[in-house]
Amino acid sequence: TARVRVHHLRQAKERGERWAMLTAYDTHSAQVFEEAGIPVLLVGDSAGNVVLGQTSTVAVTVEDILLMTRAVTRSTTRALVVADLPFGSYEASPEQAFATAVRMMKEGGAQAVKLEGGVRVAPQIQLLTQAGIAVMAHIGFTPQSENALGGFRVQGRGAGAEQLLADARAVQEAGAFAVVMEMVPAAIAAQVTAELAIPTIGIGAGPDCDAQVLVWPDMAGMTSGRVPRFVKRYADLRGELLRATQEFATEVRDGTFPTAEHSFD
Ligand code: KIV
Ligand code: NA
Repeated sequence: TARVRVHHLRQAKERGERWAMLTAYDTHSAQVFEEAGIPVLLVGDSAGNVVLGQTSTVAVTVEDILLMTRAVTRSTTRALVVADLPFGSYEASPEQAFATAVRMMKEGGAQAVKLEGGVRVAPQIQLLTQAGIAVMAHIGFTPQSENALGGFRVQGRGAGAEQLLADARAVQEAGAFAVVMEMVPAAIAAQVTAELAIPTIGIGAGPDCDAQVLVWPDMAGMTSGRVPRFVKRYADLRGELLRATQEFATEVRDGTFPTAEHSFD
């Protein structure tokens, strides 16, 4: 069966059908999400935090995303796979963005790329889409700019609403096929969703977006400690993995594992 295409997402919006997106970084998670019917998988630079042990997305490299994109595209047949363009790999010019996006497609096998920013990256989005590349935009709180934005803060409140609307219009106008809105007041996100023809994908952007995305280790309870308000934990994978690991270690120590059943004659 063929992969999900960008026009399927546009049609879903026209029909009022909501869908879920998840991040994916490796073979097993990608397979499970595809089996669950998740139409779009994002190889996000959130990998910096949830895969690579970094404290932000800033250190993530093009090579890091390429490695994980290859794993996800090799492990799936149906999902549309979007590769995040890391910090520093697209901001300088449309040409820089084009060179990075081409690598994500040729070397990573991605069907689309995502980049952060609205009005300020419209020239990048325009060149990429003119070249036949499917581009997902990301506005509101943009984690790669956390140092300039002064930390994890809701964007688009008060006077910020005009900027958010301008960013949303700019990315659609430039040719983006969808737009992530992160940490935006629900009412503003609803207004953007109603105005734009392209699907909006919310994360901390309220219930009225066309789609929702979560970072999968947050969604499945694999991450430890405090999670942002917009995260809902649908499982306790960390607790389950801890239990299994402790049981394995205990059985090895007390000689319960392995038995004849797991041994060769
Ligand atoms: O990197 C990521 O996981 C993201 C999503 C939160 C949209 O950009
Ligand atoms: Na990201």
